[in-house]
Amino acid sequence: VIDIRKLYGNTGRFTYDPGFTSTAACESKITYIDGDQGILLYRGYPIDQLAEKSNFLEVAYLLLNGDLPSKPDHDEFTHLITRHTMIHEQLAQFYRGFRRDAHPMAIMCGIVGAMAAFYHDSTDIHDPQQRVIASHRIIAKMPTLAAMAYKYSIGQPFLYPDNSLSFAGNFLRMTFGVPAEPYVIDPVVEDAMEKLLILQADHEQNASTSTVRLAGSSGANPFACISAGIACLWGPAHGGANEAALNMLREIGTPDRIPEFIARAKNKDDPFRLMGFGHRVYKNYDPRAKVMSKVAKDILDKLGRSDPIFDVARELEHIALNDPYFIDKKLYPNVDFYSGVVMSAIGFPTSMFTVLFAISRAVGWIAQWTEMMEDPEQKIGRPRQLYTGPTQRDFVPLNARG
Ligand code: ACO
Repeated sequence: VIDIRKLYGNTGRFTYDPGFTSTAACESKITYIDGDQGILLYRGYPIDQLAEKSNFLEVAYLLLNGDLPSKPDHDEFTHLITRHTMIHEQLAQFYRGFRRDAHPMAIMCGIVGAMAAFYHDSTDIHDPQQRVIASHRIIAKMPTLAAMAYKYSIGQPFLYPDNSLSFAGNFLRMTFGVPAEPYVIDPVVEDAMEKLLILQADHEQNASTSTVRLAGSSGANPFACISAGIACLWGPAHGGANEAALNMLREIGTPDRIPEFIARAKNKDDPFRLMGFGHRVYKNYDPRAKVMSKVAKDILDKLGRSDPIFDVARELEHIALNDPYFIDKKLYPNVDFYSGVVMSAIGFPTSMFTVLFAISRAVGWIAQWTEMMEDPEQKIGRPRQLYTGPTQRDFVPLNARG
């Protein structure tokens, strides 16, 4: 029998909380979630208002600085981010080391971490000015790096940023444009892209953000921390759910097959889950999913397209929300349920879905990292464990073991 008091100290305050379901790891002023009511606020502003009325760079400024920018501050911030969209030419050589069929998230983990090897003047975490420059570089260069990952995968030449365009417009051009041909940005697509980025920009202490904070708590440089966040986001239980959700909807294919998949999701012996459904914090409709579903409808309507997958998604939602299993467990669509429909309407392949999420969430990651670095009480994050292995025993030489 292990005496826990001996192992962990007799403080009476040791908690065992697998999955951190009820442990706050930090104080934060950035994002508020009320999971029971389905409320999400960035710095106090409701997510639906921001998605409707703001733009991504304004939201980035808000998350980083705490308040909406004045007009001059907005223009200066936009100019600063725009100035940093180019990447070091040597960094572009990295792509050639990857196989063409590499998952773009694998490329992103490597290439974003590698930024620390190029931007030495923004890796001193104790210098507030360097921290600001690192934030700007990360926000500005993520779309360039992501578009290059896409271009590399389809064997097309890289396109350099066009800084006369909006954040979303520039990314769309670098991704879908081709050299020597003008690329006309569809305002409907650009608007959907901006909304998509706003909706996913921050979500308090989710797995990837906690990873960024934990990595940063040891004093690691910001590029290494963001790379750690990208790795964590990739998992299908987190940011990878958007790719998994669209693959699932495609597998379902037609509304008549929905009951079969609902039955599988309810079967305890089947590991299958409805992807894009359920959330650790939301026990009500995810407010981002509400907006995302509208964005999906709008973009399809405005582009004059229909997508059978969107019809499957809406029917699946309707059936699940009237099923006692999903009602009892308070399982609702999350942001990833409809985001795939939007991204595929824009023209992205599923392998790019989580990359788009990473471009957006990089803002939240860097805002949270900055908040932590500015906290004079900041300590290295070091969870404890409940040891369940053997008690002390004596070493037995190899020839004496049975
Ligand atoms: N389909 C079917 N049943 C589900 C689902 C689902 N999508 N999600 C949860 N459940 C059930 C579980 O089987 C469990 O049932 P039980 O109590 O009978 O054992 C119960 O609901 C609670 O589920 P947990 O896994 O304990 O909940 P947790 O808070 O740990 O997990 C998570 C949340 C990971 C999001 C989960 O709902 C899930 O796997 N969803 C599918 C993946 C997904 O969409 N992830 C994206 C999340 S949003 C984001 O990261 C941006």
